[in-house]
Amino acid sequence: MSIIMPNVYSIIDRDDVEEIFKETIIVPSGRLEAFENKKQELEEAFKDFKGSSMEGILYIDKLYPNEAIVKSSCEEAHKQASGFIKKVYLPKVESGELLEEQAKKIFKYFDAAAYAHDIAKTTFRLEIIYDMVKLNEFDDEREMRFLKAHPIISFYLLRNIAPFKQLHYIILFHEEFYESHKAFYERTGMDVDFSNMGPVERFVNDELRKHGIVDEMTEISGDNIPLGARLMAIPDAHSSMIRRQKTEEQIIKALTEEEKEKPTEDGRYKRKEFDSKLVRIYLAMERKSA
Ligand SMILES: [Fe+2]
Ligand SMILES: [Fe+2]
Repeated sequence: MSIIMPNVYSIIDRDDVEEIFKETIIVPSGRLEAFENKKQELEEAFKDFKGSSMEGILYIDKLYPNEAIVKSSCEEAHKQASGFIKKVYLPKVESGELLEEQAKKIFKYFDAAAYAHDIAKTTFRLEIIYDMVKLNEFDDEREMRFLKAHPIISFYLLRNIAPFKQLHYIILFHEEFYESHKAFYERTGMDVDFSNMGPVERFVNDELRKHGIVDEMTEISGDNIPLGARLMAIPDAHSSMIRRQKTEEQIIKALTEEEKEKPTEDGRYKRKEFDSKLVRIYLAMERKSA
C-alpha cells in the first residue's frame, strides 16, 4: 500500500469534511439550494435503511423520485456495470478464489454504486442533464468547476446515508485518471497540469493545498485508485457514449484511448484515464455478448 492513499482517505474521513467542502468548492449561485434540498430529501428517503441493507431496485426510486433523466442515465450505467462485474468476479467463484456469498455482496454493492455514483447530476443545470452542452463549452468558471467536481458532490450527498457508506471509494474515485504522473512524463515528456487531473486529485492538490490542509503534491493514479472505482469508470464511460449515440468503433477507440497516444492539435497530450487491463476484459465481454 502506498503512503499516498491513507493521506487522501484521512481527508475523506475527517469530521469537518463538510466544512472543508463548503469552503473549498465554490458552489455557483442557485446550485447551493438544490444541493441542500437534495441532501435533505435523500436523508429523509433513506432514514429507514439500516447499515448496508441492500434493497436493490428500491434504491433507484428513492434516489431519483423526480429526476427521470438522471434516473435513466444511471439505469444505463447500471446495465453495463453489472454485466462487467459478473464477468470479472464469477470466474473467481468458479476457481474457488471467492465464495459465492462474497461475490453476491460485491454484485449488490456495484448495483447500488452504479445507481448512485452520479447523484450530483440532480443538482446541475438542466442543459447539462440533457447533454445539451459540453463541459468545455462553459464560460462560467464556477459552474465548470462544480461540474467537474461531481464525484465529490455525489460523495457529500451520500456521505451520511447508511447503505452507501461502503461505496464511498467507488463513488469518489470513479473519474480519476489511471496513468501516473511518472508514466505520463515518460511517455510524453510533459508535466501534468491541472486540466489533466481527475476531480479528486485536482481537489486535493489545488483546493486543499490552498487551504493548508495538505502540503505536498498528492498523486491519485494507477493502482492507488481503488479497484471498485477503476472497474466502475469503464461501463460508466461506455454508457455515456451510448447515450451520445457513438458508434461501436468510436466507443472502442475511446476506451482503448488510442487517440491519447498522439498529441492534440496544440501539441499537448492527454493523460490516460482507464486501467487498460480492465478495458481488455470489458471489451472481450462486449464482443462475446454482441
Ligand atoms: Fe461521473
Ligand atoms: Fe456516470
